[in-house]
Amino acid sequence: MASPMCREIVASGRRAAAAAWGRTMSTASWWSHVEPAAKDPILGVTEAFLADPSPDKVNVGVGAYRDDNGKPVVLNCVREAERRIAGNLNMEYLPMGGSIKMIEEALKLAYGDDSELIKDKRIASVQALSGTGACRLFADFQRRFLPDSQIYIPLPTWANHHNIWRDAHVPQRTFHYYHPETKGLDFAAMMDDIKNAPNGSFFLLHACAHNPTGVDPTEEQWREISYQFKVKNHFPFFDMAYQGFATGDPERDAKAIRIFLEDGHMIGCAQSFAKNMGLYGQRVGCLSILCENEIQAVAVKSQLQQIARPMYSNPPIHGALVVSIILSDPQLKSLWLEEVKGMADRIIGMRTALRENIEKLGSNMSWEHITNQIGMFCYSGLTPEQVDRLTSDFHIYLTRNGRISMAGVTTGNVGYLANAIHQVTQ
Ligand SMILES: Cc1ncc(COP(=O)(O)O)c(C=O)c1O
Repeated sequence: MASPMCREIVASGRRAAAAAWGRTMSTASWWSHVEPAAKDPILGVTEAFLADPSPDKVNVGVGAYRDDNGKPVVLNCVREAERRIAGNLNMEYLPMGGSIKMIEEALKLAYGDDSELIKDKRIASVQALSGTGACRLFADFQRRFLPDSQIYIPLPTWANHHNIWRDAHVPQRTFHYYHPETKGLDFAAMMDDIKNAPNGSFFLLHACAHNPTGVDPTEEQWREISYQFKVKNHFPFFDMAYQGFATGDPERDAKAIRIFLEDGHMIGCAQSFAKNMGLYGQRVGCLSILCENEIQAVAVKSQLQQIARPMYSNPPIHGALVVSIILSDPQLKSLWLEEVKGMADRIIGMRTALRENIEKLGSNMSWEHITNQIGMFCYSGLTPEQVDRLTSDFHIYLTRNGRISMAGVTTGNVGYLANAIHQVTQ
C-alpha cells in the first residue's frame, strides 16, 4: 500500500491542480495555487547548520565523505583522470545510453571481472544520472512494462526511494528490516514478509551499507534471502550506492549481488559513483537489468533509452570519462582501491572512537551497535527529542531519525559529540 504521506502528497497536488483550473479561468495569476514544497529533511539540516554562528557546530547530517579536518575530498585518482581529460577530448554528446566504456567498467565492478553474463551480453545497461537517476529509470521501466506490479521497500530506507517510486506511479509496500531494540536486522520478520508477499513481487534491496541504518545481512543471511526469493520467484532490485564504502573492498561489498547471481536470479542494479569516487555533483551512475539473452538485453536497453530521451536525452560526459579512465587503467584503479579503502577505514576508526568515548564517560547504555553497523551511517537509536537537544544545546546537526553520518565525525569533534550524546541520553 502506498504510504499515507505519499497518498496525501499526490492527492493534495490533484486538489491544487483542480482548484487552479477554476482560478485560471477567472484570474490572471497562473501560479497562485502553488504552495511551497515540504523541505527535504536532509537538506533542511544543512541549511540550519550553515545558519548557526556557533564555533562548536558539527554537521553529522549530510551523507558526503569528509576528511579528518571535516573538509570535502577529491580523490587523487580523480585529479589524475581530470588531468588526462583536460584539453584532450571534445565535448560531443554521448550516445543516448551513455559511455559504453564507463558502462563496461561499471558492470565488471558489480557483476565481476570475469562474468559470463557480461561476455554473453545478457545485461541491458545504460549510464544514469547517478544512483538516483538509475533508480528512477528502473521505476519508470517497471511501471511501463509491468504496470500492475508494486515494489517492496525496506523499513526504513533512504527517504528518496519513496519519492522515486511514488513519482513513477508504482504502488509501494514495505518490508520489515530494522529491529529498534537490537539496533540490528529483524531477519525473522524480513523473511516472513518475503514469504508472505505475492509470488513474483519486486523488492528493493540495498546491496551494502544500508542507508540509514548501517545494518546489512550477513553472508549466510543473504544466502537464505536469495533462496527464499527463488522459492517465491521475486525480483531483486539492488541499489548499490556505497560499493567499497562498507568494508573498504568493492569486491566484498558486491557479495550480496554475487550470491543472487550464483543462484540464477534475474536482477536489476543501480550503481552510483557519487560516494566511492567522491563524484557527488558529477551525477554518474549505471542502471543494469540482467536478461535471458542478448536479444532481450538489446530490446530492454532500447526501451531504457526511450524513457531517458524525453527527460534528458543523453547523460553528461565528464564524470563518465573520469570513471572510465580510472577503472580501465590498472595503476589508477589500484590508486582508487587504496583511496576508497582509506575512506572506509577512517569511518570504521571513527566508529570505534565514538563508541569508546561514550563508554568512557560511564554510559550505562549499550553502544555496541555503533561498531556493529557498517558504511557511512550510524543509526544511533537517539529519539527525535534527544536529537533536538543535541542541536539546541550542543549545535550538533543530524536528521531527527537519529542517523549520524560517520563521514562527518573527525578526531577533532568525536570527543565533543560523544559527550553530547552521553548528556542527552542520561
Ligand atoms: C541508498 C541510496 N541510494 C541511492 C543514493 C543516490 O545517490 P546519488 O544519486 O547521489 O548517486 C543514495 C544517496 O544518498 C543512497 O543513500
